Amino acid sequence: MVPNYYITTPIYYVNDVPHIGHAYTTLACDVMARFKRLDGFDVFFLTGTDEHGQKVELAAKSKGVMPKAFVDDVSKNFQNLLECMNFSNDDFIRTTEKRHLDSCKKIWNTLLENGSIYLDKYSGWYSVRDEAFYSESEIIDGKAPSGSPVEWVEEPSYFFNLSKWEDELLTFYEQNKSFISPNSRRNEVISFVKGGLKDLSVSRTSFTWGVKVPNDDDHIMYVWLDALTNYLSACNYSNTNNETFSRFWPADLHMVGKDIIRFHAVYWPAFLMAANLPIPKKIFAHGWWTNEGNKISKSLGNVIDPFDLVKKYGVDQIRYFLMREVPFGNDGDFSHSQLINRINSDLANSFGNLFQRVTSMIFKNCHEVVPIKPDIFKDEDLKLINSIKNSLHDYRNLMDEQKFDQFLKNIWMVISDANKYVDEQAPWSLKKNDYQRMEVVLYTLTETIRQISIMLQPFIPNTSKAILDHIDIPLVERDIKSIELFFSGGIKISTPNPLFPRI
Ligand code: MSP
Repeated sequence: MVPNYYITTPIYYVNDVPHIGHAYTTLACDVMARFKRLDGFDVFFLTGTDEHGQKVELAAKSKGVMPKAFVDDVSKNFQNLLECMNFSNDDFIRTTEKRHLDSCKKIWNTLLENGSIYLDKYSGWYSVRDEAFYSESEIIDGKAPSGSPVEWVEEPSYFFNLSKWEDELLTFYEQNKSFISPNSRRNEVISFVKGGLKDLSVSRTSFTWGVKVPNDDDHIMYVWLDALTNYLSACNYSNTNNETFSRFWPADLHMVGKDIIRFHAVYWPAFLMAANLPIPKKIFAHGWWTNEGNKISKSLGNVIDPFDLVKKYGVDQIRYFLMREVPFGNDGDFSHSQLINRINSDLANSFGNLFQRVTSMIFKNCHEVVPIKPDIFKDEDLKLINSIKNSLHDYRNLMDEQKFDQFLKNIWMVISDANKYVDEQAPWSLKKNDYQRMEVVLYTLTETIRQISIMLQPFIPNTSKAILDHIDIPLVERDIKSIELFFSGGIKISTPNPLFPRI
């Protein structure tokens, strides 16, 4: 049976245009989704837009447009980003869609009917920027812990009985050690829950842009209960007999930024426990990017536009840099000089050069035909040929632990070994005195390039495709399993073009 894999991005607020932080979260999911597909999984990769709430309503007002017209417009920018970054999502959900409204209604009614939701009054702090409630003890110098402004709110509100789930949550974290990753985030969440949970306000009455509470039109659902439910809506939760729901729920991985871990690792499992639904298998919280050392913010005017970056440097170049530069989970600093360094040294000089040297030699010295697979190899040939083949288990683990940078570092070690092998074997001098040995060397290198390119497909899909096309690897032999095969050789190649222009 084909195993399933359900991965989600957070859904993006449509109060503003997409920036590098949004592209980063989705990219990490795209890399995971592409890898899992190549590794034989039936993947459901979901992303989308979070279109309700006070923040979005205010953004629409400031532009003088009705909220629906506004969200239709901004959501399109996020959809355009998918194409620009070459993302391979299977679905795009918008919280203003009927399938989502139906599933919000269903989860609300379930929670209400089983006594998890009750009507009362909220008085306390609220941050519109974070769309979050804060208790008095969390306020620092009149601001939220995130630094966002807060306002005092007093209004009738439905509450979710979050306090009741404290022990269950702690037991769940204890029994599911890899539920929250990385470990530092897990500790942070556990100490937050141990500090005591208060019941959570889950409806608002002071504005109207949201999902109406069933049978109580004065209230709209708290935007986070609405938003988190998107992960169910996309599996057609409102119709549980549906095949998608039984195949894909619970999700395998919710990828989030560190700022929204509490919503995903505390509130979300509590809502699901209360609704008697299975809990997702893992929440991974990645770090934040700064721009040349400064916090990225609209007010500082230093927002990095992914569309501009891709136009200037190329999509694979940006994808590679974002996944390689920073250990996934840590914060990172975006700098143009670092980006250019990576493009020139890793992509152009190391990988690009390897491909260029090998294919040019084949083109010039072997009548444009890749040598066929030889019967006899020397130890140094086999060492190179087997270095990825024998480590597939480790590569799979690195992916399952979201260690994208380490995965790439390992592949680049193979690239560096392959470049050293070219220097040591010096096929240009073999040409004169040992033509057969030259063929073995060039075969070995092409076989290594084949494996590297298969492994790099999730990260740099366009370039990998160009290489695999160039050496004529059939589409059905581009999955991870095919690494174990051997390239048969004997195919004619065209003049190679440089893969990555130097900047
Ligand atoms: N709408 C909520 C998520 C609801 S999910 C049920 C939300 N949206 S957001 O648009 O504000 O943020 C989406 C993601 O972008 C978050 O994971 C956030 O961490 C990420 N990033 C925003 N700025 C970022 C950086 N500067 N760097 C890296 N990621 C950042 O939160």
